[in-house]
Amino acid sequence: MKISGRIDAAMAAAVHTGRGGIAPARLAEALSYAVTPGGARIRPTILISVAMACGDDRPALTDAAGAALELIHCASLVHDDLPCFDDADLRRGKPAVHRAYSEPLAVLTGDSLIILAFQILARAAADTPGRALSILDILGTRSGMPYGICAGQGWESEPVIDLSAYHQAKTGALFIAATQMGAVAAGQEAEPWEELGARIGEAFQVADDLRDALCDEATLGKPAGQDDLHGRPNAVAALGITGAIQRFDDILGGAIASIPACPGEAALAQMVRAYADKLVPAGARNRRTVPGE
Ligand code: IPE
Ligand code: IPE
Ligand code: MG
Ligand code: MG
Repeated sequence: MKISGRIDAAMAAAVHTGRGGIAPARLAEALSYAVTPGGARIRPTILISVAMACGDDRPALTDAAGAALELIHCASLVHDDLPCFDDADLRRGKPAVHRAYSEPLAVLTGDSLIILAFQILARAAADTPGRALSILDILGTRSGMPYGICAGQGWESEPVIDLSAYHQAKTGALFIAATQMGAVAAGQEAEPWEELGARIGEAFQVADDLRDALCDEATLGKPAGQDDLHGRPNAVAALGITGAIQRFDDILGGAIASIPACPGEAALAQMVRAYADKLVPAGARNRRTVPGE
């Protein structure tokens, strides 16, 4: 089965678990709303690609890990859009969960998705409990404090932001989780895969800054120009468009060079390159440089 098919099936199974029985109907509906249709699903795609490069001998665990990671990501977006964070009305081309359902239901949707993520991993553990425990630990580390998304979002409430720690925790953490969880699902050590995840995360952040600066709301499916609007430090402000693209290419080269030796190394490098091409907005590379950029 194609990677996208595996992700869709695992996500559908996970949400089904969260919607069963006698449950409050609107919250149940909001769970589906928050995860479908998905965005780029880049994190589980990387996770499954790494697992495949390492042999993928426990595909059910790999799929559960991919879904768990994407559930955490979706939850982080639901919470991130709340009025107390970014107060964003649009996500993935449709009203944000707090707009479509209500603020209390958006808080509960995010909470429910986070809990579901850990639950589906626990349920996939029977066959290889050692691997599952390690995956649970990685996901917790990269979601919470002090290295995960909670830490990343927490930096926004500090008087002075450590930019590198902020980006690593907010964006990089789930990419490290992606490479490490994929490797562990296939029976490999986590540690050698940290660098690849960190570098992909760094490249992703630069591409996200480029998209925020160059794309419109209709293309992004979420508010554009946010970095400028909120005065957030970002790669385009620091380096200009051309400089940011150069930075992206440099980080990507380093990412590919850091792929640990494994049976599917070449295919994984190709996949990372193919995905990277989609991240930089179309036309950004042959855009005329404007003086002052
Ligand atoms: C958006 O992530 C949040 C950031 C970390 C910048 P994605 O761009 O992966 O969002 P979706 O899942 O494709 O919508
Ligand atoms: C969201 O970060 C990523 C999270 C960790 C929740 P941003 O606020 O920078 O991303 P967008 O623009 O809303 O997707
Ligand atoms: Mg935010
Ligand atoms: Mg936001």
